[in-house]
Parts: sequence; C-alpha cells; structure tokens
Amino acid sequence: MKTQRIFAALSLLVGVYATPLAAQQPLNFTVRTSDIKTAVSPNMWGIFFEDINLSADGGIYAELVKNRSFEFSAPLMGWSIPKEVAGNGQILIVNRQEEHPSNPRFARITVPDTRSFELVNEGFRGMGIKAGEQYNFSLNARQQAATPVKLTITLLDETGKAIGSTTVSPAGNNWQSYKASFTATATAAKAKLKITCSGPGVIDADMISLFPQHTWKERGNGLRADLVQLLADLHPGFLRFPGGCIVEGRELVNRYQWKKTVGDVNDREVIMNRWNNEFAHRATPDYFQSFGLGFFEYFQLSEDIGASPLPILNCGMACQFNSAEVVAVNELDPYIQDALDLIEFANGDVNTTWGALRAKMGHPAPFHLKMLGVGNEQWGPQYVERYTIFAKAIKEKYPDIKLINSLGPNPDGDKFTFLNDTLRKLNADILDEHYYSSPQWFLSNAARYDNYDRKGPKIFAGEYAAHSKGVGNGNNKNSWEAALSEAAFMTGLERNTDVVVMASYAPLLAHVDGWQWTPDLIWFDNLRSYGTPNYYVQKLYGNHKGTAVVSMLKDNQPVTGQDSVYASAVVDQASGELILKIVNAAATPKPVSIAIQGVKGLANGRLITLSSNDLQALNSLDQPTSISPKEQSMVFKGKSIQTEVAPWSFYVIRAEMNR
Ligand code: AHR
Repeated sequence: MKTQRIFAALSLLVGVYATPLAAQQPLNFTVRTSDIKTAVSPNMWGIFFEDINLSADGGIYAELVKNRSFEFSAPLMGWSIPKEVAGNGQILIVNRQEEHPSNPRFARITVPDTRSFELVNEGFRGMGIKAGEQYNFSLNARQQAATPVKLTITLLDETGKAIGSTTVSPAGNNWQSYKASFTATATAAKAKLKITCSGPGVIDADMISLFPQHTWKERGNGLRADLVQLLADLHPGFLRFPGGCIVEGRELVNRYQWKKTVGDVNDREVIMNRWNNEFAHRATPDYFQSFGLGFFEYFQLSEDIGASPLPILNCGMACQFNSAEVVAVNELDPYIQDALDLIEFANGDVNTTWGALRAKMGHPAPFHLKMLGVGNEQWGPQYVERYTIFAKAIKEKYPDIKLINSLGPNPDGDKFTFLNDTLRKLNADILDEHYYSSPQWFLSNAARYDNYDRKGPKIFAGEYAAHSKGVGNGNNKNSWEAALSEAAFMTGLERNTDVVVMASYAPLLAHVDGWQWTPDLIWFDNLRSYGTPNYYVQKLYGNHKGTAVVSMLKDNQPVTGQDSVYASAVVDQASGELILKIVNAAATPKPVSIAIQGVKGLANGRLITLSSNDLQALNSLDQPTSISPKEQSMVFKGKSIQTEVAPWSFYVIRAEMNR
C-alpha cells in the first residue's frame, strides 16, 4: 500500500521501536484544510531582547573594550596597570560633569620621561579575537604637554603573547578622534588589549574602543554577526526591546530612557545595568549599559531581520520586585512625552524634530512602528492609573498605534485577575501574559486559549520559558524536556492565533561566563554561539508558520494532550502546502493516522523532526547541534498520512495539496 511506503520511509528516519506498530491502535486525526479558522498573525513568532546575561554589552554589541569611557561606578573597572610599569607614569580620572554631563570622565595619563606606561583592558570576560580578521581601534584624545605621548596598541593572547598591533599618534591639544586598524595574527578567546603610552608627555583619553571590522552588515558601532544571524534565521515576526525589567530599572533613576540612547555614541550616558546586583548568587559587578546598542540600532536590527519593531517604555514605575517607586501622577508628562516623541522618532517626517534625528543617524525612511508597550511587567491599580493617562495621550495623537499592556508577572492569581478584568473593561488593545513555569505547566496548558474571549483584547505571550527548577534558580537548563513542553504548548498558541497574535520566548541571549538568568534561548562565548533545543522549537514554528489555521481534530476535539500527543495545522495559501505540527510528549512511540479533508490528494513534502531519547539532553558550545532539526523529503500519496511519532519528539510535516 502507498501509505505503508510512506510509513516505511518514516520508520527508517526515526528508528525502529520495541513496540510494534501493529500492537498499537493509531490515534486518528482529521485535518479539514478548507475549514479556515483564522489567518496566522503576521507577527508570529517573535523575539524578546533584553540586556540581561551580557546580551548587549559583552554580547551582541560587538565593542570589545569594557568601560571604554571610564563611567562605571569604579572608573578603572576593567582596566589594570601592569606592576612592572606602574612607576613609569600616572593615571588620573578627570570629571568634567558641567562641560559634558552625559560622558563626564576621561583618563589623564602622565608619562614623565622616555619610559613607557601601560593600561590593559580585560574585555568582557576577555576579548574574542580571530586570526586573520581586521580590528578597528579608536579613541578620543588630546595632548597636554609640549611633547606628545605616542600610543602603541597591542592585542595579547591568554599567555601574554602579542597577536596584533598598531600605533596611534594623537596631535594637538583639542579633542579629536583617532583610528587605526590592524589584523590579528592568531585566534584567542580571552585576549586583552594593551595600550602602551610612550613619553614624555601628558595625554587625555576617552572612548577607547576596539571593534572587529566584520560585524553584522559590516557596520561601524556594529553587532556580532553570528548572533544576529541566529536571530535572522528565526524569521521573527517582531522584535521586542529593550526588555524586560531593564525598562523599569531597580529605581526610576535607572529606568531605560530611550532619548539617552540615540545620537552620537560619545553622548550616550552610561548607567549601571539593573542585573548587575539582582541575584546574589550571580552578582555581576561589572555589568553596565553603554547604550552603544540603543533605540536607533534596535529599530535598524528589527528592519534588518524583517521583524516588526516593538519598543516597551517605562510608564512611570520602577521594577515592583525591587522597589515600590512610582512617579507622582502629576509628574507623568515627561514619560508620556517620551512615548509621543518615540513615535515621531520612528515614523515622523524628516522635518520633525525626532524624525530629523533619525535621518541624521542614517535612516531618513520611517521604521514603520505600529505598536508600543506601556510598562513592562507592572501590576496593581497604580499601573492602571498611569496606563490610562498614557493611553489617552497616545491614542489622541496616534490612534493607529496598538498599545501593549502588562498583565503582571504570572498567568493567573490576584495580580493577573485584577489587571485582566480591569484592562478588558478599558478595551485595551493587546494584553501581555508571562509564564515562566514548569514543563508540566506548559503541557497542561496547551488548551489555555481554546475558550478565550474572541471579542476582547488580543494576547501577547510576551515572555515564556519552561523552568524545571523554579524561576530565579540558576540550575534551570535548556533541556530537551523544557523545549518539548514549549513545542506542545505552542500548538495551542498556533491554533488560537486569532487571539494570541504574538509570542516570544524569554530571555533571548546569555554569555556562558556572564549570565544571571537561566534558561535562555541562545548561548555564546566570546567566539562561538549556539541555539538551544528551545531555539530550534522557535525556529521550526517561525520557518513553518503558514498563512491560515485549519482545524486538526481527534474525536472532534483539538489535539491538546490526548494520549500525550499535541498537534495543530496550518496551510500556506501561497505555496499550497499543508503544515502539521505534532508533539509526542510520551516515552513511547505514537502511531497516528491523519485523514486530510478538502484535498484531491497530497504530493511532495518534507518531514522535519526534532527529537532526543534523553529528556535532559542539552546543546552546548562544543556540541551546538546535538538536538537540531533533521529534514527528509517525502512523497505523500492519497488523502491520509500514517506515521509513528517517535518518543519525545516534535514533528513538522509539510505536504503539497492537490485541490
Ligand atoms: O526575562 C527575564 C525577566 O523576567 C524580565 O526582565 C522580566 O520582565 C521578567 O520578570
């Protein structure tokens, strides 16, 4: 029989199991390809970016020098003076707050004679340097004495050996920018940068910077190409930025203020990252925000990877886990003005104040901002009070901008219920639900949205991840068990995309030596990066999202865990393909028989499997694709698909439909 041929091919791919197929009754599913339930939301499936776990500075932002402008609380953090040259000169940190409030400090280096003084920067857990690649050094400098100090720039590998060098000869007593490029002669994962100051003389230095030439799109002040490529490969429907709790700050003074992150990088005020001291067990005292990756770069990144931009703004409330600080309601205006100005920055004509800045930064065309988050993970009546004022002002001026509202940190309970009830009465646009819960929670909640109100606000599943050990526990892993449970849950998001219009796993990125929070979608060190099993789940959904949801039923019910199987179906109306997603969360194989209605027959297709026989299995820097999709071409015949879904597996089946 034709279908047996297909089954045989699938068996070869997924292995032969102890339980013979004949011994098990198949689960019978029906897919009604003409029964279009809804269009797939164009913003499915998105990504959530927050500068946590060294995601920005030390991560995707390709700057290699830590504390380049001496603005960390301890101004020489990240810098050291080798003992053997300590007596050859002197360094002072000068503060010119009044003259340059956004970047007040610089280093004054005095070298009294012809000996050399040295400064060494340790990078962010070292600097990742690649043999044969070009590196671009720059600094702002001015001379203060009659004889100029000459600078020799040297990259050192872990043993102290020089692996690249250049010289810079600043001249004159006015601040100027100097640049020099060189090629690295060897690869090092934890290199350092040495600056040798040859005297005699006195030199002032600021914004001491080293970037690889090769960044995403080869941009200066650019992003790490390998990390952006991983994001682009997800084909994300939106990019949420800049977080997360970082929007709120531990206190209002450290909230994210987008206006301080745009324009010349020299003028972007450095502040402490709120994750610096959040977790005592993962204290990160050298975690600050340079904002070299600021709002312009976030918009540009969104555009580059085809994602709709979704900025989230502070609504006058600091992080409620840390402090009860809120701005007085009668002093909310500057916060609201920031929101209105942001819309102008993104979409405004180049003749407007903020549109002109966007053009000056190199992007005269609008960024097509369509949605905006008001507050991150806020809760309580104080949030509603502030949101209401925000919404009135924004909707009056920009009625087409959709607003995203917080529903608090949990998917149920008092905080959730209060906001859910209240914001629905206020006709909110989109409600942001967060769930950091156990894998079991994700499996049990695959039907969460099947009976949600269809007429009320839409849902943004804005932050989610399966946590086996509990939230805030550093032992959470990106295990296959966690990823599989998310894949199962996401069948429910896909089936209900008329209500759930956006979804994003969180957090996105983590440095293996500098993280605060686990699990995370993508891990990296200074040279390498890899997608977790959870990443590949997201990627399969993003790359096979289809255009319209069709019904996939078992006994006339959605497939939400009957016999540990979860499933959903979409069609791609442009390519004429049916796309099935099936999760087997059990330790035993599941034979399934899928009747396809509304077609004359099926033709060519593909089977893509993501699977492991170990629920605790992980990917790693050394084995980055241990758990990753395996794809096989298929020839389907007739109007049904028979297969056996391997234990603990996620299958995507694509089949051309003859109609
Ligand atoms: O994703 C990590 C944190 O979890 C986010 O910053 C916050 O919004 C949530 O509590």
